[in-house]
Amino acid sequence: MISLKNAARILPVALLASCGGGAQPGYVPGLGEIMSLQQMRHSKLWLAGKAANWELAAYETDELEEGFADVMRFHPIHKSSPAPLTSMIPALMDPPIQAVRSAIESKDAVQFGVAFQELTSQCNDCHQATGFGFNVVVEPTTNLFANQDFRVRGE
Ligand code: HEC
Repeated sequence: MISLKNAARILPVALLASCGGGAQPGYVPGLGEIMSLQQMRHSKLWLAGKAANWELAAYETDELEEGFADVMRFHPIHKSSPAPLTSMIPALMDPPIQAVRSAIESKDAVQFGVAFQELTSQCNDCHQATGFGFNVVVEPTTNLFANQDFRVRGE
């Protein structure tokens, strides 16, 4: 329980923080944390595409985009990036994400494979550009999510 005394202390801070745009007061996810989520979504997108589960693939693409929106919101600039992340991300990620989307819409496995490769290579281009070239993203070789079924399920 929050006592009345503590509430009086916490509330103004919470109100101030919530005016900032609706994030949880006080909590700012680190860039590395958001990137770890991006890594998971990148992997799930691949697994969904491989299973021709286009509905799930579209969902994971949305999640990936939301993750990059979070990066730009919480980390518009980065100390070792040659340009603001708010310009790096649209420049590097929009074209491959569009290509992934169009492959999903046309349910085209071959096109999906090509677009996914392009996406992955652009992830790495940004890591190179920002001095994190040692973080190398690749196509997943295995399903690490034993508790999720990536196949299309019947009704
Ligand atoms: C705008 C540039 C940029 C783009 C685009 C980008 N990254 Fe990153 N990524 C970074 C930076 C900078 C770091 C290091 C963050 C830190 O730890 O401060 C990072 C770190 C990572 C890490 C390491 C996290 C950890 O803790 O092990 C992974 C994994 C990762 N990114 C995956 C991805 C994937 C997958 C994509 C593409 C879907 C992607 N990144 C696109 C800039 C980018």
